[in-house]
Amino acid sequence: MKLWGGRFRDEENALMEEFNKSFDFDSVLYKQDINGSLAHIYMQVQVGLLNEEEGKLISDGLKSIEKDIEDGVLCLDGNYEDIHSFVEINLIKRIGEVGKKLHTGRSRNDQVAVDMRLFAKEKAYEILEYIENLKATLKEVGKNNPIIMPGYTHLQRAQVVTFKHHLMAYYNMFDRDARRVKNAIGILNESPLGCGALAGTTHNIDRSITCNKLGFKKPVDNFMDGVSDRDYLLELMSDFSIIMMHLSRLSEELILWSSQEFKFIEIDDLYSTGSSIMPQKKNPDGAELIRGKTGRVYGNLISLLTVMKGLPLAYNKDMQEDKEGFFDSVNTLSMCLQIMSRMIATLKVRADNMKNAVKSGFLNATEVADYLVNKNIPFRDAHGIVGQIVIYCEDNDKSIEDLSLEELLQFSDTFEEDIYNFIEYENILDKGIKVNLR
Ligand code: ARG
Repeated sequence: MKLWGGRFRDEENALMEEFNKSFDFDSVLYKQDINGSLAHIYMQVQVGLLNEEEGKLISDGLKSIEKDIEDGVLCLDGNYEDIHSFVEINLIKRIGEVGKKLHTGRSRNDQVAVDMRLFAKEKAYEILEYIENLKATLKEVGKNNPIIMPGYTHLQRAQVVTFKHHLMAYYNMFDRDARRVKNAIGILNESPLGCGALAGTTHNIDRSITCNKLGFKKPVDNFMDGVSDRDYLLELMSDFSIIMMHLSRLSEELILWSSQEFKFIEIDDLYSTGSSIMPQKKNPDGAELIRGKTGRVYGNLISLLTVMKGLPLAYNKDMQEDKEGFFDSVNTLSMCLQIMSRMIATLKVRADNMKNAVKSGFLNATEVADYLVNKNIPFRDAHGIVGQIVIYCEDNDKSIEDLSLEELLQFSDTFEEDIYNFIEYENILDKGIKVNLR
């Protein structure tokens, strides 16, 4: 059954009907669609387009549809074009003629626009909760593990850091992500309901009533923009892509750290899988899947950017393509954030391996140079001297702290016994602004 059949002589071609349908994927919007309609009906009563009795009949009908969907009495299937048709057709089936008044002063264009904004806002808040959870987990695990470990640049051992500081780097990334998502919510928080198809309506509707009822900050300023704006989905999907990029970087580290080569951590059995042939294997699949799923979240963003790039104002059916990608990105990101929190909360930290790894790779070389600077040697010269010391150590298979004072004095006569204390790995972190690493 079609809502728009009046001006057509022929039935829609079956393949075209299938092609045009969005019900298979937009049925998840049933709550938002019904809430949007309830607000629209409330407003219609307020402005006198419906009398109280009609308003009550329609509202009760809408609420009964929602309840029956939730109770599994009314199934979201059947041959409907989209969720809007599903709700309206079922409403008329339930309450009869008066149900046909629901759509006065409204178009599916502003209807779908308001549904998607409500959905996007709700999901963005859910994602914020998952981010806060992950941040709290990173902070807690960091606090419990102020262990020294090698810090890397170019994946080469560079300087001593702590596991806590390393995790808190991600905490800061996710904190920025949360602020980005909040900002996107602030921008999208305007109601498009009442824009009509593109040019408003001759009825004296009151957009501020539906706006307030639905919890938006204000009605959109421009009708044509209101029905055809999908920026908020692009903005959220950009934010989601950045979050996935952060999750993917963290996943990469978890994968590396849990390898035999690093052995810094062990991912809990709960978030690992085995091999069907190699009995010894424990694979970091949780982290690998997060890294892998980053691709589809980027893909969904690029896909909608491409859909939108050549569209004339106002609504075009191309915009129906906003849904599957956005829903997929929301589901993927929600899952990844939860899995990451759990993986971090349960991982075993191999403190001894982290501490031991600090001892090779000359992680205190920069601090030897700092020591020489304290002895009034210009930094560039100090850098050169320590470079020579490193070559000497490599040739003799020693660490800098293993060298005797006599050996060190061959490179600079400013070395004194206090050098050993100065470059001791734990002590390094108590000097200067390095205390921030603690
Ligand atoms: N399923 C459509 C969408 O997602 C709903 C809006 C339909 N509007 C229209 N003029 N055909 O965009």
